[in-house]
Amino acid sequence: MPAIFASAPGKIILFGEHAVVYGRPAIAVPLIQVQAKACVFPEPRMPSGYINIQAPNIGLEANLSDLPINHPLVAAIHGVLTEIDVSRPPAFTLRVTSNIPLAAGLGSGAAVSAAIIRALSTFLGHPLLDQRVSDLVFEVEKIHHGTPSGIDNTVITYEMPVFFIRNDILGNTIETFKVARPFTIVIADTGISSPTSTTVGDVRNFWQNNPAHYEQIFDEIGEVVLAARSAIENGHIEALGTLMNENHSLLMDIGVSSLELDHLVMTARSAGAKGAKLSGGGRGGNIIALTDSSNAGNIAISLEAAGAVHTQIFVIN
Ligand code: MEV
Repeated sequence: MPAIFASAPGKIILFGEHAVVYGRPAIAVPLIQVQAKACVFPEPRMPSGYINIQAPNIGLEANLSDLPINHPLVAAIHGVLTEIDVSRPPAFTLRVTSNIPLAAGLGSGAAVSAAIIRALSTFLGHPLLDQRVSDLVFEVEKIHHGTPSGIDNTVITYEMPVFFIRNDILGNTIETFKVARPFTIVIADTGISSPTSTTVGDVRNFWQNNPAHYEQIFDEIGEVVLAARSAIENGHIEALGTLMNENHSLLMDIGVSSLELDHLVMTARSAGAKGAKLSGGGRGGNIIALTDSSNAGNIAISLEAAGAVHTQIFVIN
């Protein structure tokens, strides 16, 4: 049995985070430059059922049986074994590495799950189709994110820009669409780790206390997302910047921004960005700023001077 490798990219939400949990549309793109990687290799000297897990990024080396059942790496492995109906697999070691920042809204958890599910199912002779991979990643996401929309597992598994609408009854809408004119974004990390589950849970509480107000904001975000899709498809990049600014204001209204995020957003705009917003769960993690490619480096420098711990420039096409 040869060793099997698989990988999955990070992701960034361009528009519509949080409202997407409540059935409004959102737009996300994969970030191919950052990846989670999984390698499964056989342990022929060990008895079947032996599963060793190595995740050096988080300092983990353990046997599966010593980890809690709801540990995300364990859940991803169990998901595959259940899916292909194998109770005692041949002994193997799973090694996971990732250069996707953790708890920063870049999809690190979903990418790790996708890479594991692909590598392990292939190792066991049953490579899974993308839709099944995405569904299994979603199951793992649910353990730790409570009520995820499904956009993260979708964009990470399909590795394409997606327009996504959650619908638990009729099935999600997943549409890929054309980027008429490539555009440049700078992603800047506050360095503040903020688990998506916490902000998604907080928004649920706010919504439960004041559903009419929150439904109204979610509707407005939905309008911004529709306009953003049209701007991207028609190459109206200037309009896209204004829409990012509007989306950020609405995320502030929801209560998921923070002083640090707002400071980076303002810094990017002052440095000449066409628009900027937080991206992902909020409270920490990243902002994205839309810019001319010629000004991207300048904006990145300004953001680092303003406290961003890491910046990266991406071309979306
Ligand atoms: C997280 O990447 C985006 C949120 O909208 C949560 C979700 O869609 O599951 C905040």
